[in-house]
Amino acid sequence: MHNWRGKTAAAMILVLVVQALVALVDVSLGQELVPGVMIFGDSVVDAGNNNDLLTIVKANFPPYGRDFVQHKATGRFCNGKLATDLTVENLGFTSYPPAYLSNEATGNKLLKGANFASAASGYLDSTANLYVSRAISLNQQLRYYKDYQSKVESIVGKAKATNLFSGAIYVLSAGNSDYIQNYYINPVLSGSYTTDQFSDLLVQSFTSFIQNVYSLGARRIGVTSLPPMGCLPAAINLFGGGSNACVTRLNDDAVAFNKKINVAAQTLKKSHPDLKLVVFDIYKPLLDLINNPEKNGFFESRRACCATGTVETSLLCNARAPGTCSNATGYIFWDSFHPSEAANKVLADALLIQGIDLIA
Ligand SMILES: *[C@@H]1O[C@H](CO)[C@@H](O)[C@H](O)[C@H]1NC(C)=O
Repeated sequence: MHNWRGKTAAAMILVLVVQALVALVDVSLGQELVPGVMIFGDSVVDAGNNNDLLTIVKANFPPYGRDFVQHKATGRFCNGKLATDLTVENLGFTSYPPAYLSNEATGNKLLKGANFASAASGYLDSTANLYVSRAISLNQQLRYYKDYQSKVESIVGKAKATNLFSGAIYVLSAGNSDYIQNYYINPVLSGSYTTDQFSDLLVQSFTSFIQNVYSLGARRIGVTSLPPMGCLPAAINLFGGGSNACVTRLNDDAVAFNKKINVAAQTLKKSHPDLKLVVFDIYKPLLDLINNPEKNGFFESRRACCATGTVETSLLCNARAPGTCSNATGYIFWDSFHPSEAANKVLADALLIQGIDLIA
């Protein structure tokens, strides 16, 4: 009983803190708390860079985007807004950083950041180069970012551009695809590396990404942890052996990886004293939601809204796929890999609290 009361009190305090933070930001609406936001990584944060690639991993068709601005499928892997969209709003912006490969990414629209993320990419360049995906690898995303920097410099001049690059918040989301689309289904990889060795490989790539983006001027970086991968509807179906429960092995791998990336982040901060680097824990907030959906206004934590909700993402989650739910609000997952907008709202609140150091 005491424990339950304590938890409720803690949850209430958390809600109050979020409300206070959001109110603080609302006061200065239109006044952004940082000069820009730069986004890198995978489908969790991709806002449309895959739309014109020769990849099958896309989301620029209905029912994706049906609850987004103007009910538009933009390439976001969600019915509505991504957690990063909501975070950008929380930071006081009235528009989202444009997908760098889209027509939108020109002229003045580049001056508050850009989005370089590409669905199906990961910490390993080889993940992005798998035959089904051909996504933009993290190293290629960095090359696009350099290209972006010279464009911005030519518009506003070196000094202003440097302020943007050092003041902006950089968000990185990666790792999901390395495990789910690569390691767990690729016998070459899983035969060559134990999960422990594989996570070391990913963390090395994380460290070099941070060093590279730091050397390009980044000083405020937030990287998302892995989610409870074993609770993704697709993972339960592909790796759950017929059970409807989260796959413990995959969740354990996520926890182990998250520990390592936190250690690596501490090391990076020591060697770069002027770097603000936060590892956003999305594992716990998402697992809490999945374990207690009703407490947060959800009723479905196993089945995704789109199609049968068991394995579909990208092309398989389409307007003709039968079974799609009529209202995703009560669903934690929109498709079998990606949270719904409603769940993203809960995650964005968690990011706001955890990311205070990046704004201060
Ligand atoms: C979905 O359900 C929520 C909560 O019941 C409601 O507020 C919302 O308007 C509904 N959305 C649509 C598109 O029907």
